[in-house]
Amino acid sequence: MNMSSSPAVSSPLTAIPADIRNAQDYAALAPHFMPPSHYAYIAGGSGYGQSVAANVAAFEQWAIYPRLLRDVSHGHTRITLAGDDYAHPLLLAPVAFHKLAHANGEVDTARAADATETCMIASTQSSYPLEQTVARRGWFQLYLLPRREDTLHLLRRAEAAGYRAIVLTMDAPIQVANRRALAAQFQLPADCVNVNLRGYDLTPRFAGDGPGESRFFQGAMRGAPSWDDIRWIMDATRLPVWVKGVLHPDDAVALRDAGVSGIAVSNHGGRSLDGAPSGLDVLAAIRAAVGAQFPVLYDGGILSGSDAFKALALGADAVAIGRLQLYALSVAGALGVAHMLKLLREELEICMAMAGCATIGDIDSGTLLRQLRR
Ligand SMILES: Cc1cc2nc3c(=O)[nH]c(=O)nc-3n(C[C@H](O)[C@H](O)[C@H](O)COP(=O)(O)O)c2cc1C
Repeated sequence: MNMSSSPAVSSPLTAIPADIRNAQDYAALAPHFMPPSHYAYIAGGSGYGQSVAANVAAFEQWAIYPRLLRDVSHGHTRITLAGDDYAHPLLLAPVAFHKLAHANGEVDTARAADATETCMIASTQSSYPLEQTVARRGWFQLYLLPRREDTLHLLRRAEAAGYRAIVLTMDAPIQVANRRALAAQFQLPADCVNVNLRGYDLTPRFAGDGPGESRFFQGAMRGAPSWDDIRWIMDATRLPVWVKGVLHPDDAVALRDAGVSGIAVSNHGGRSLDGAPSGLDVLAAIRAAVGAQFPVLYDGGILSGSDAFKALALGADAVAIGRLQLYALSVAGALGVAHMLKLLREELEICMAMAGCATIGDIDSGTLLRQLRR
């Protein structure tokens, strides 16, 4: 990739590097385009990084059968999700603070999403206000704030801005240290603050610091989202409400029965409970538990079109890309993200065509062969 003589950090490019051939190439280039501590924060996971590693290893267990003599001349990647039609099943996962990767942050990412007809899920934790980061038919990822009146205000802003669905992230009630970021002395830069939450009271309701109390049981977990909160949000909005961070089939069934519009099977990119399985390893069981019709999104470790194909084959209706969007953003801003998404879509199309799948619906578990971990 001719980067050996590059400085440690350089300005984003205004053109696509000629030798980028695959979406994943952006991951290799990114360390050259952002400060090392930013890269450590983004690439790292919680604890000892077991779940980050699991996300990558999970894909290696599966091979895709090439199929011969299939007519795919009518092929396409279109899907319908939450009542909207999308050109392809590759979404942008909610990722905090895009300004860590590029000065234009989420604004550029949203432009790239529009240029490639991609559904972007904007994070609550954003370096630009949610009103400026809404992609066409984009969704909003909502973290419940300590006080309901503030959550409701944020929700109303998201509705007014035109977001088409709400994604409640449920799997991060406790902030677990990212050791790689700590070792690199990562700190949020002064110009990279969560502007969406300005003016809200973010003081936790429970500290868990009373006599004999635990910071976790009587602190963070007492303020964690509850079933009551999910019902309250569903009552408070007409938008479809998804829940992100599901890894157990029983939770998936309970959420379906509670009436949520869909779930995202995810271990938060290995950034929440270290030791949690990769979502890919539980995806087929979750699909079997919730039935064929219930909408399921997958994210975690997707770096190529064949990764996306495998997740679709194991039961996802669509997949979301996390870190790779920040890597592409750091290299070439909106252009980089759009190019990465174009490459990913082409890689998916190649897999589909050679596996004999003309449509996303044709991609099922019969397209995969389980192989031993390398
Ligand atoms: C730097 C970073 C910030 C993230 N911020 C959020 C967030 O604000 N909200 C959320 O629901 N998930 C967040 N995630 C998790 C992603 O939505 C997604 O689950 C994960 O990145 C997918 O794995 P991948 O990065 O391997 O593609 C974040 C992930 C990263 C890497």
